[in-house]
Amino acid sequence: MNPTDQQTTDRYPTSLRMLHWVRAALIAGLLWAGWHMTGLNDEVASKYELYYPWHKSFGVLAFLVVLTQIALRLRTPGLPQPLETLERYERFLSRLAQRAMYALLVVVPLMGYSMSSTYTMSDGVFFFGVNLPELLAKNDDWFVVFQWLHKVLAYTLLGLILLHLAGALKHRFYDQDPQRDVLRRML
Ligand code: HEM
Ligand code: HEM
Repeated sequence: MNPTDQQTTDRYPTSLRMLHWVRAALIAGLLWAGWHMTGLNDEVASKYELYYPWHKSFGVLAFLVVLTQIALRLRTPGLPQPLETLERYERFLSRLAQRAMYALLVVVPLMGYSMSSTYTMSDGVFFFGVNLPELLAKNDDWFVVFQWLHKVLAYTLLGLILLHLAGALKHRFYDQDPQRDVLRRML
């Protein structure tokens, strides 16, 4: 098999590649918006009229995209395996980061939903014009717990994404070895 054949069979299927980049854009936007909106003064009208409802809508959308991605992944045989050309510690770190990211991509929006649902002063969970049912009882003590978890886990996710990004860029630009370039599998 020549290197070109190897590259083609090694790539993620189109559906998973597209979902990866759509979700990456969504998550980057959500992290920025979450950080930005919580820093705004309460007097700024856009804080609760624009940022909060749209953060919730896109947050629920990201959750649905991640569930679709996980379902597709489980139903797709023969996905690319960690590259044998990478060092053991690199394979270990990348697998750990990918699994932890998947876990947080599910848990972070669930904490966001739980926070919005339990807060007595919340306007509910807005999803692009539809108010989603609030499944949890109103309780401000629980709200504080969910708010803390949403914040800490969202910034932990950011840390993992930076590690993930550093790994992908290192293999492409620093290693300068096509056999270690994982990025081509996702492009
Ligand atoms: C993967 C999806 C999500 C990410 C990455 C994310 C990220 C963040 C971040 C970074 C913050 C700022 C935390 C801080 O500095 O205090 C935040 C705040 C917030 N998020 Fe999310 N979020 C997501 C999904 C959701 C969802 C689905 C909801 C609700 C349905 C939600 C509701 C909120 C609310 C209400 C705040 C403001 C909390 C406060 O006022 O202290 N988020 N989010
Ligand atoms: C918000 C941002 C991102 C998140 C949450 C994320 C998450 C993930 C996850 C969970 C996987 C595992 C895919 C699977 O096996 O199903 C993955 C794979 C991958 N991601 Fe990301 N990613 C993000 C951004 C990026 C960026 C910016 C790059 C590159 C510049 C990148 C490059 C890759 C590559 C190359 C793979 C395949 C790794 C391999 O084949 O071993 N990702 N990403």
